[in-house]
Amino acid sequence: MEKRSSFKGSIGFVLAAAGSAVGLGNIWRFPYLAARDGGGLFLVIYLILALTFGFTMLTSEVAIGRKTKNSPLTAYSQIKKGWKPLGIISCIVPIIIMPYYCVIGGWVLKYLVAFITGNGFKAAKDGYFGGFITDQWWPIIFFAIFLACCAFIIFKGVNSGIEKSSKIIMPALIILVLIIAGYVLTIGYTDPDTGVKRTSLEGLKIYVVPDLQNATVKQVFNVIIDAMCQLFYSLSIAMGIMIAYGSYVSDDSNLAKSVNQIEIFDTAVAFLAGVMIIPAVYVFMGKEGMQASGPSLMFVTLPRVFKSMGWIGNIIGALFFFMVFFAALSSAISIMEAVVSSFMDQFKTSRVKATTIETVLAAVVGIVVCLGYNIWYFEVNLGSVKGGQILDLLDYVSNNVLMPISAIGTCLLIGWIVKPKTVIDEVEKNGEKMGRKILYKVMIKFIAPILLIIILLKSFNIDVIDLVEKLF
Ligand code: PFF
Repeated sequence: MEKRSSFKGSIGFVLAAAGSAVGLGNIWRFPYLAARDGGGLFLVIYLILALTFGFTMLTSEVAIGRKTKNSPLTAYSQIKKGWKPLGIISCIVPIIIMPYYCVIGGWVLKYLVAFITGNGFKAAKDGYFGGFITDQWWPIIFFAIFLACCAFIIFKGVNSGIEKSSKIIMPALIILVLIIAGYVLTIGYTDPDTGVKRTSLEGLKIYVVPDLQNATVKQVFNVIIDAMCQLFYSLSIAMGIMIAYGSYVSDDSNLAKSVNQIEIFDTAVAFLAGVMIIPAVYVFMGKEGMQASGPSLMFVTLPRVFKSMGWIGNIIGALFFFMVFFAALSSAISIMEAVVSSFMDQFKTSRVKATTIETVLAAVVGIVVCLGYNIWYFEVNLGSVKGGQILDLLDYVSNNVLMPISAIGTCLLIGWIVKPKTVIDEVEKNGEKMGRKILYKVMIKFIAPILLIIILLKSFNIDVIDLVEKLF
């Protein structure tokens, strides 16, 4: 068996984990939710949740990884005999996510190539995105290239692959975000049809100024739930990733400090993504344009926004899709590592073998996902998914069902079975003090499981607020 690798320094770990956390969710969902959910109100609630709920879950997973020096599949049973099923769920989640995340990575690559080759404005045409994803071959080709990039980095291992690439990707990503956000804040546009002038600063206001007009208690609760679901996904919690990365953290590094840095990084990039996207969409598309999120925001609305910018839009579009490509790649390698490290630990096999198996597995399922828009087209209606395709089905099962279950399992194990002290001792192993200790104990035992149950019920279309209203 190969000797377990470790990150060379804590900065390598922080950048790799932040690379995992900063992904498509930060770019295509966070800004949209903030603009929809009362601007600054959402931002404040998100920040509070990050420092409490996010901090608790992230600390627990990284500590489980470092304490056991095991990957998600085998770590839980090392913490407590008989908890292997939780490890299995934690390993199934990244196995399911990897193929479809790479399919989306392929879409990003396609748009990047379009903008780099000066064809970006074609993407603004009606039906361009639909035409691309329903094509039989091109989505598979771009998916295969994206998957190959991930496999290449994972083959190279923890230091020469993950750590090294994160040290290049993450600073580049930040620079790109700052350039684009800086440019966006200077723009304004007069609508030729209505003669109305809109400026980016007005758009920025919608994003950051708390909108408390007509805010009822129920609405605030809804904002809290939205922020919680977003945070849970954004920090890459319950995907097995933070356990895998935690297992490569050296024993003498300061865990508490690293966890804070990861949270700050992730939240800062999510916030800046909003500074980049919301004013731009508002200026060129008005408030109606701001209704889009997810793939339709990224692959339909934004190309139109770039086109409206004139010639410079091609450059901004290329920089933007470069940035998104980096964000998606660093997340995809983390999810692949969660699977590869699990295979290595469970089957005592080499990195080369484990990576090859996972690449083949992801390739087969990814092709099925691509064909789900073409020859295997069918509509899925399940839980909160209405009329989705194979990709939406995999996304639903992993994100909405298995991830909350896995996180609830972690809370039960740490909070009630082996007790929070297990994690606290791991964090304080080198004599450093873990801040927010009481908060951690209360969160992991009581509040986090309740919040996770609310998230899980939402997946089954059960609105807890409505339920409470009916009961009382
Ligand atoms: N934090 C990531 C994001 O916001 O996109 C979540 C993620 C998804 C990480 C998929 C890794 C991954 F493969």
